[in-house]
This record gives sequence, C-alpha cells and structure tokens, in this order.
Amino acid sequence: MEENVIPHNFSITQKERSALKNHGAFLIWFTGLSGSGKSTIANALEKELVSENIHTYLLDGDNIRKGLNNNLSFSPEDRTENIRRIAEVSNLMIDAGLVVLASFVSPYREDRENVKRIVGYENFVEVFVNTPIEECERRDVKGLYAKARTGEIKNFTGVNAPYEAPMAPDVEIDTTLISVEEAVSLIMKFIGKRVC
Ligand code: ADX
Repeated sequence: MEENVIPHNFSITQKERSALKNHGAFLIWFTGLSGSGKSTIANALEKELVSENIHTYLLDGDNIRKGLNNNLSFSPEDRTENIRRIAEVSNLMIDAGLVVLASFVSPYREDRENVKRIVGYENFVEVFVNTPIEECERRDVKGLYAKARTGEIKNFTGVNAPYEAPMAPDVEIDTTLISVEEAVSLIMKFIGKRVC
C-alpha cells in the first residue's frame, strides 16, 4: 500500500517555522535506567529552556505509555516499536520547530541508532543518565525494583532485562555525583549555540 502514498509538498518549510521561533529545532534524548533521574533532569531542563523563550515539548515514557503507546508491553519487540513511534513523533515536532526532550529507558543501542536515523544525526543529542543501579534500586520511587526482584514484574531493565549503555553519549550524568542544577547546566553548555 505504501507505494501508493505520495507525500504532498507544502509551502511552509521547517526553516520558516524555526525562523519564527528564533532558535534551532532538535531532539534531546535521555536514556538510562528506571529511577536514574531522566525525567527529573528533563523537567528542570525544559523549565530552563522555556525561561529563555525556547519552544519545547517533553515526551516521557510513563506518560506516553498511558496514551499513544498504551498497546505496547516491555517485550524487546514492543520496546523497539515504542522507541520508533517516539522517534517519528519527535521528527514531526522538530519539523514544527520545537526543541524536543524525550525521556525513555530505551535500553537497546540499535533502537537509539534508529532514532538518530529517523530524526537525522545532526538533530540528535544523547544524554546518558548513568546513575548506578544500586542507587536507582535504593530510591525505588515507584516500587518497581522490589516487584522485579520478587518476580512480579518480568523483563525489568537492569534486573532481568538488559540495558546497553551508550558508547559515546554527548553528555553523561551520574546523579550520585552532581545535582539536577549542575546536570542542566552541563546540557545547556552542550546545546549552547543551537538554542540562541
Ligand atoms: S522503554 O524500555 O520502552 O524505553 P519506557 O521508557 O517507555 O521504556 O518506560 C519505562 C517506564 O515504565 C519505567 O520508568 C518504569 O516506570 C515503567 N516500567 C514498567 N515495567 C517496566 C519494565 N519491565 N522495564 C522497564 N521499565 C518498566
């Protein structure tokens, strides 16, 4: 069927949308274990960006899985589909001229590579929230590690499902070593010129 779908060329381009907003449009991808602090840092970063008049949108695993992706499980195949859909949504938002923040465990390297392919390498910033699992488990904000340890949750990342760490993230953060504010300024420093 796809070969019978012919995209329409619309008049207004991404460049024009970006020019109206006065800043670049790209994706900041947060990856790391559950409870590592991804969403907390993404939230603080979005507040900082908005205070500087940057147009943003934040996509978050726990929220998206209640809506758009509520038909997906945590099997490897469904995680791949989860991340693929987020990449496509992010791509649309970049086209709309937004700085997109996406916070997903995204444990598979190949899935994250696919995100880069979809949005374009130049539009992708990878933030690895590398908080040790012992600390994520100690926090256990949602009580999920406890459930995973007793076997109530299967395929739980870091316990009985793999996490493939990024080889060369743009920014790496260990929340046992630096504060949320410090994490935000590290990312702001990295994205610097793109949002001015
Ligand atoms: S991903 O692996 O497909 O990228 P996603 O980021 O959407 O995961 O969702 C992860 C969130 O779902 C975690 O923060 C956690 O709260 C919850 N969760 C529930 N079951 C699991 C599981 N088996 N593995 C990881 N996270 C889980």
